[in-house]
Amino acid sequence: MYILGVWDGHDAGAALLQDGKIIFASNEERYTRRKLEIKFPVNSVNAALRYAGIKPTDIDTVAFPTTEFAKTMTRVFPYQMEVYYKFRRRKLPLRPRLEWWMHMMKYGQTGIGVLPGCDGISKIVVSKHLRSMGFKQFKLHAVDHHTSHATGAAFTCGFDKALVITMDGLGDGLCGSISTLENGKLTRRSRIRARDSIGIFYEQVTNIVGMRELEDEGKVMAMADYSFPFKFEENKLRDLYAVNGTSIRAKYGAAAQYNFLSRIAWTMPREQFAYMAQQLLENVLVQLVQNAITEYGIGNIALSGGLFANVKANMKVRELDAVKEWYVFPHMGDGGIALGAAMQVDYELNGTHSYPFDNAYLGDEFDDNAVETALKADPTLSYESDSDRMSHAAELINDDNYVFWYQGRMEYGPRALGDRSILAKSGSDDVKEKLNIYVKQREWYQPFAPSMLRSDADKLLESVKGYDRFMTMAYKAKDDKKALMQSVVHIDLTARPHMVGDENPNYRDLLTAVKKRTKYGIVLNTSFNIHGQPIVMSPQDAIATMKKTKTKHMFLNDFYVENKEA
Ligand SMILES: [Fe+2]
Repeated sequence: MYILGVWDGHDAGAALLQDGKIIFASNEERYTRRKLEIKFPVNSVNAALRYAGIKPTDIDTVAFPTTEFAKTMTRVFPYQMEVYYKFRRRKLPLRPRLEWWMHMMKYGQTGIGVLPGCDGISKIVVSKHLRSMGFKQFKLHAVDHHTSHATGAAFTCGFDKALVITMDGLGDGLCGSISTLENGKLTRRSRIRARDSIGIFYEQVTNIVGMRELEDEGKVMAMADYSFPFKFEENKLRDLYAVNGTSIRAKYGAAAQYNFLSRIAWTMPREQFAYMAQQLLENVLVQLVQNAITEYGIGNIALSGGLFANVKANMKVRELDAVKEWYVFPHMGDGGIALGAAMQVDYELNGTHSYPFDNAYLGDEFDDNAVETALKADPTLSYESDSDRMSHAAELINDDNYVFWYQGRMEYGPRALGDRSILAKSGSDDVKEKLNIYVKQREWYQPFAPSMLRSDADKLLESVKGYDRFMTMAYKAKDDKKALMQSVVHIDLTARPHMVGDENPNYRDLLTAVKKRTKYGIVLNTSFNIHGQPIVMSPQDAIATMKKTKTKHMFLNDFYVENKEA
């Protein structure tokens, strides 16, 4: 039995379940090549069907999340969403009045959840899209937004008993929820209203410091560490949010808060403003999680929602004594809710409440024939089959080169986990600068992250708790490993590690080959893309990126590729 999940909003995507297993999940941006795509995920659905070798008519159950008023409106009037998307991404010229109007429209709608009729109208629009793709006899299930986030985390975390916490900008009238998972049953215990959203707060901060909301929040987090530290009592934003038990209260509504934040930001350098915002976010999250653990007496936590993309806040949560075991759903943002919605429907229909989930390699795969066809099309590339590519790549990395590393199935979620990655030495500032400026083309202060052998993690990082195979958490690097990790730590010596074990044998072997040369199995790992573009999906995307960045070395499945024009 197949269940298809589709999400047609911010970071649209699709996921396919078969008999209680996740067989495919991907996001539309990888196909349309527009970062965080918003259109109906036609390409992702087709990719899922192709992977499974089935036709639309083989699917009789489809799940989709979110039927709030604002989302329903954009389903009916997609042009609205397209204009906002382009404006938000700064693909349209600056028009201050339009920007102000858009923000006020958006913030004015934050408190409006699902109104009568929204479910039905959303179903009509989603059905129409599916029918135009050849779907015929299917039942469509609408799933609540935060239930989709929560289910994704709960049913993949592997805990028998857990506290499941979701936090994001907003969805279906809420910005957060707290549930308990016991014996496969997820029960919502507390909800946080969208009006009180600290996710919207962080979006607003991102916008006010001149960056793109819903996209550049990680840069705000990185920039915050360049401020001199403040005590929380001196933080001018400290009164904006109060945590009461397991709920949060915002002092202002979203529109008034935006005006307040603009006035504060006017008076100080950006990094100080970012620091205050990050500090407030961390305080609120830590208090909320602490209170929830105390109230429900459960120390295992499973987290999802866009706010948990903030690895520094996650670190503060992990460091709580009350937290026993933790898990962050790897596709924590809205890109992950097609899968969560499908799982929720699988639970309702079949009682499935646990999925094998030891890796996130759930996307497209191209065999060597397809790769070779793409390579043959470009005479400026030379290539050869490379039977010892792990050692070859390790040698190149050790000699201060960076390499493009493309293997097997594409990762699900925002992080490259060794199948669509750019790799380099972990201890070289030169290669870091080269990557930032010439290849990734991004801001100098954004740190790179390391991949490391799981067995080396506690030799390189302080207080390792858990197996972070999805790169969802910050850790402090050990002081004596500063030189070894200089290109993969931030200014405060924290890193966002990807720990690698047997779930990716090729990548594990590459790290083992690095370890033979440098004593530790660690490399710099950044996503295989130019900054602001989606991660590469196909061999053609990989080749185009190689040419555009004039990169010399690439490993494409079994082939070693060299660019003669590098
Ligand atoms: Fe969300």
